Amino acid sequence: MDQNGKVAKLHSLRKEAKLGGGQDRIDKQHEAGKMTARERLDFLLDKGSFEEIGAFVRHRSRDFGLDKISYPGDGVVTGFGTIDGRLVYVFSQDFTVFGGSLSEAHAEKICKIMDLAMKNGVPIIGINDSGGARIQEGVASLGGYAEVFWRNSMASGVVPQISAVMGPCAGGAVYSPALTDFVFMVKNTSYMFVTGPNVVKTVTHENVTSEALGGASAHSTKSGVAHFSSENDAKCLLDIRKLMTYLPLNCEERTPVLKGVEPDPEKAKLLDTIVPENPNKPYDMRDVVKGVVDAGSFFEIHENYADNIIVGFARLDGKSVGIVANQPLSLAGCLDIKASIKGARFVRFCDCFNIPLLVFEDVPGFLPGTDQEWGGIIKHGAKLLYAFCEATVPKLTVITRKAYGGAYDVMNSKHIRADYNVAWPSAEIAVMGTKGAVEIIFRKEIASADDPATRQAELEKEYEQTFANPYMAAQRGYIDDVILPGETRKKLINALHITRNKVDSVPRKKHDNLPL
Ligand code: HXC
Repeated sequence: MDQNGKVAKLHSLRKEAKLGGGQDRIDKQHEAGKMTARERLDFLLDKGSFEEIGAFVRHRSRDFGLDKISYPGDGVVTGFGTIDGRLVYVFSQDFTVFGGSLSEAHAEKICKIMDLAMKNGVPIIGINDSGGARIQEGVASLGGYAEVFWRNSMASGVVPQISAVMGPCAGGAVYSPALTDFVFMVKNTSYMFVTGPNVVKTVTHENVTSEALGGASAHSTKSGVAHFSSENDAKCLLDIRKLMTYLPLNCEERTPVLKGVEPDPEKAKLLDTIVPENPNKPYDMRDVVKGVVDAGSFFEIHENYADNIIVGFARLDGKSVGIVANQPLSLAGCLDIKASIKGARFVRFCDCFNIPLLVFEDVPGFLPGTDQEWGGIIKHGAKLLYAFCEATVPKLTVITRKAYGGAYDVMNSKHIRADYNVAWPSAEIAVMGTKGAVEIIFRKEIASADDPATRQAELEKEYEQTFANPYMAAQRGYIDDVILPGETRKKLINALHITRNKVDSVPRKKHDNLPL
């Protein structure tokens, strides 16, 4: 049947493509604790769903011996497949082929699937494991990177873009993941930096390893570049699958709806007693979130970065919501530069992709100090404010305790067009905390009193009764209701239901100019 060997040739080419840079290099990849590019795709996607595009593409270079060596696929495996039956476009760089370095042809393959993903409204998942620009190709490779960056920028807000950094990602190459919505890294086997340890040593005389400079831990705790830091390749890929369950395929779509699951009764019961009597005592806002949302549905993002604010996805009666919550366990829940940036980026993602926002608020204000002021807390705090202001998705807020000062306005208040704002009886909605307020407005009176301490205590009581409660705000309609903690889930599910067809818009403009 195959007289001219044409079918045999196809089989042979397919086999060659599957082997990438060869068995020895595959073994080396495994020894380094890493899966190969193809193994990663097989693990990420539904079994047997991967369809490859461009397996036979080769580079066209002639310089530095490349005319004699080429591999089918040219160092990146591209195509599409499904996650829980939903389509995604993927590329996975193959470190066994020229160290996964990006050539002109390699970039063209990535761009082709990005273009298809955009035309078809499908998310893009990119797995990065690359020595950077293919050195032998010079500027053609740099052009290739720029083509990818441009597409990343155009796709932003149109389809979700997820990057997994599972090996080297250095120099300008870091800017493709940086332009995407979520960055995953794997501990000890991946790193990202603009300039590596050798350049750092020459320029700043610092001795630093790749892992310390740009490993998963550095980027998930210090810089915030990585949203997730995984123990190994398998965990990272499973987390990407999980993330996808909360997201729509594109900005026109709604999120998937799963079956609602009541929260664990123990966690739900805890809500009634979770806020301590003493306003200076902390509690874990994660417990509040878990007591309200569907059991097991809370998926935290940026868990180890700016832990004074919590962001993540969850489900309420099966529907995706984006959670933004102050965390009294860290910096008393104050907003600072990092928390503002973390929150703003998340709010904007949710607004791009039709994911309703659910805010749990216990915020004493913005963090004071020269570090914060000189670091630009004014402009960074404005990012979070701006993000909430411009968001047109359904916006719900639950004030559990403190809602003080400017932070009250920022955290999805009624005034910036939140749809459903409620407070627990423990809420204190005021310009500032009792002690500070009394010391400012009654300083003279306290100083001239016969018994200053007693007078101060009386005035604090009076302030508390007048302002440290939710009723002043409720009287003005700034909050819609004061509810018992145990009623929260039911009320929020109803609020989500009544806002499900919400239509809102922002004034016509070329694009906004959010504070950067
Ligand atoms: C061509 C490359 C390559 C590259 C690695 N290789 N990087 N080939 N271009 N950029 C090849 C190696 O020659 C080797 O080929 C194979 O990949 C594996 O590399 P090793 O060095 O043996 O592996 P390892 O020891 O694990 O080290 C990995 C590495 C190192 C840290 C990534 O290879 C490295 O430092 N590479 C250069 C990184 C770099 O400077 N890139 C340019 C950055 S600037 P054989 O045949 O021996 O298996 C940049 C600009 C982008 O990327 C700008 C965008 C705007």
